[in-house]
Amino acid sequence: MLPGERHKPYRDAYDRPIQYLRVSVTDRCNLRCVYCMPEQGVPLLSHDDILRHEEIARIVRVAIEMGFIHIRLTGGEPLARKGIVELVAELARIPGMDDLSMTTNGILLRQYAEPLAQAGLRRVNISLDTLQPDRFRQITRLGRLEDVLAGRQAALAAGLQPIKINTVVVRGLNDDEVVAIARKTMEPHWHVRFIEVMPLRSALGTASGATPWIDDGVVPSAEIRAQVEAELGPLTAVRGEAGGGPARYYQLSGAAGTLGLISPITEHFCHSCNRLRLTADGRLLPCLLSDAAIDLRGPLRAGADDEQLSDLFRQAMIEKPASYRVTRNAATCLSMSKIGG
Ligand code: GTP
Ligand code: 5AD
Ligand code: SF4
Repeated sequence: MLPGERHKPYRDAYDRPIQYLRVSVTDRCNLRCVYCMPEQGVPLLSHDDILRHEEIARIVRVAIEMGFIHIRLTGGEPLARKGIVELVAELARIPGMDDLSMTTNGILLRQYAEPLAQAGLRRVNISLDTLQPDRFRQITRLGRLEDVLAGRQAALAAGLQPIKINTVVVRGLNDDEVVAIARKTMEPHWHVRFIEVMPLRSALGTASGATPWIDDGVVPSAEIRAQVEAELGPLTAVRGEAGGGPARYYQLSGAAGTLGLISPITEHFCHSCNRLRLTADGRLLPCLLSDAAIDLRGPLRAGADDEQLSDLFRQAMIEKPASYRVTRNAATCLSMSKIGG
């Protein structure tokens, strides 16, 4: 195949086209969100374990030649990786690169938005679970709301659009703010997605123990929708902004922005799953919720050629399960901060 030439998308064993690669560039994070990480953090990968820029770029180039069209950088917190702007620039130069995006907590966006846009990043999704400064500190343990809001403004000014806000809703933590956050979509450039929290033991730092607020914390998307409609009027289904993810999009009457619902618990979107995940240490994960992983780093460092790397991609596609339920047992060992959501 010639440089920049694209294969038509590969389909997995269940005939799903696989076109979306989520690339975790670091397992580090500058926050400790309560539903994601224990307060003391999690054991981190060593420098040598982490893929180098040129290794990530090589894998992404192979993916694009195989027909992947969405490339999303995640973490941990992607902006916590040293040299992230240079990495983005290297990825943006890959022939055929189009939808290059990032999911970030936004804390460092004020300083990075402009250089990232210059380097070729197209858009960002920003995690934001509350509009209240005190609560923001309570949820993230370390962060300041004003930094995220300033980061969002900087991203807007730099043209990293559309900007989608990711709000993980947890009962008793921020479910009383759903309407206030939904109301933001009346303002220009506010696209908000409400995400059902996935109850993960990894947030505790231990594989056992009761986590009442997490176990009982799921607020079904249908409930969120009903709450919004009761207060703000009917939601109309719309196509939504650019993207490759599992959100369903709606709009309030007269709203500038969209309101998305992401329902990993109550709506099993596995049938339309279109993605693979690359971990910071170079493993391809067929599914967010299964332990299966295919090592790319070993073969890469041992001199594998592009054809061998695409064979490993195809193997990951073959291993994608038809579906996976978020159950307490299934999700025991999963660490969102290592996989990047
Ligand atoms: P767009 O391209 O903008 O549509 O991005 P996206 O929604 O795919 O990316 P983002 O990183 O913002 O993802 C939002 C959230 O959706 C993630 O944090 C997860 O909570 C959830 N999510 C995304 N993909 C999966 C998946 O394959 N399985 C499950 N269970 N949840 C997912
Ligand atoms: N359930 C749902 N979403 C989560 N995220 C992190 N942990 C969880 C969880 N347990 C989301 C973050 C961010 C994305 C990378 O993953 O809020 O938007
Ligand atoms: Fe960090 Fe994201 Fe986990 Fe929050 S959800 S601790 S921002 S990795």
